[in-house]
Amino acid sequence: MRGHDPGRSAAANYREFARDARGRSPAYETLAAAVAEDAAILRFLCSLPPDKRQPNILFAAARYLLGEPADTDGLRALVRRDPAGLSALMLARRTQTNEPARCATLLPALAQLPPPLALIEVGASAGLTLLIDRYSYDYAGHRIAGRDPQAPVLRCEPRGPVPLPSRPPEIAWRAGLDLNPLDVTRDDDVRWLSCLVWPGEGDREQRLAAAVATARRDPPVVHRGDLLTDLPALAAQAPAGATLVVYHTAVLAYVAPEDRRRFAAIAGGLPAVWLSNEAPGVVPGLAAPPHPDRPFVLARDGRTPLAFTDPHGTWLQWLPIAGR
Ligand SMILES: C[S@@+](CC[C@H](N)C(=O)[O-])C[C@H]1O[C@@H](n2cnc3c(N)ncnc32)[C@H](O)[C@@H]1O
Repeated sequence: MRGHDPGRSAAANYREFARDARGRSPAYETLAAAVAEDAAILRFLCSLPPDKRQPNILFAAARYLLGEPADTDGLRALVRRDPAGLSALMLARRTQTNEPARCATLLPALAQLPPPLALIEVGASAGLTLLIDRYSYDYAGHRIAGRDPQAPVLRCEPRGPVPLPSRPPEIAWRAGLDLNPLDVTRDDDVRWLSCLVWPGEGDREQRLAAAVATARRDPPVVHRGDLLTDLPALAAQAPAGATLVVYHTAVLAYVAPEDRRRFAAIAGGLPAVWLSNEAPGVVPGLAAPPHPDRPFVLARDGRTPLAFTDPHGTWLQWLPIAGR
């Protein structure tokens, strides 16, 4: 995840985040660039452990405390006025952005597998990306009706030919795994989720609210656990007779490189299809073709790149690789 490399300075991470926010969130592009040059805010950040200095955590915590997205003056004043309150919230919370639109980038790969499916999402946050079959989809006019008529329609632009299904796959069982599951029925957790959304990114906030309402009608089960220790036991609970799929999106960037390798060995050793949807270079040993914008790479079994995907699920480009 850009803006989250504990090996680099906070200023370098915020500059990188500003580049990432360009064209998506002008407010956060400006704010991150300002933080990178602000000695007082950088000093405050350096009082926190490296993994807590992330722009997403600072900006979400500021939004939580201020009641609206911070601008540069507002953030400076907050750091001056209430550094203890701000750091307490940043220490208590994590980047757990749960973006339901990522389901639209996973759906074509899932629909190619023999049904019914048993899904395990690793790093599931509140479980909104476990509800693949409940949402409806609109791929530039190719519409797919989900199983919950009140659930949001996820719009995703197919760039080039994509093997789009006519219906969502049948899901026999699903479970999430997360270090810190968020509870869709708790208002405070939902408020944190909404504070993680970047301002100015179209309809993300409405989509999140609609996905939370969908999840509240039938909450998904997300188990507390670590992807390094608790995945095999959860996989053993999946029903026989279903295709077990272990998947994760926007998770491994928050895991140390040596632990990513350990996780890859665990996921690759399970009797399961393993789908990863992560930034390039994050899944150990996965070689993907270059792309100027460095989007996420959707891949199967840690070896086969299937598609480039927008990190927030707004577009999908299928890769023409033989031998699939
Ligand atoms: C950015 S969120 C992504 C949530 C969801 N996958 C999505 O795409 O919307 C990353 C999630 O990974 C979880 N996570 C990070 N490290 C983990 C670990 N070692 N074991 C389990 N979950 C982890 C975090 O708690 C967080 O909820």
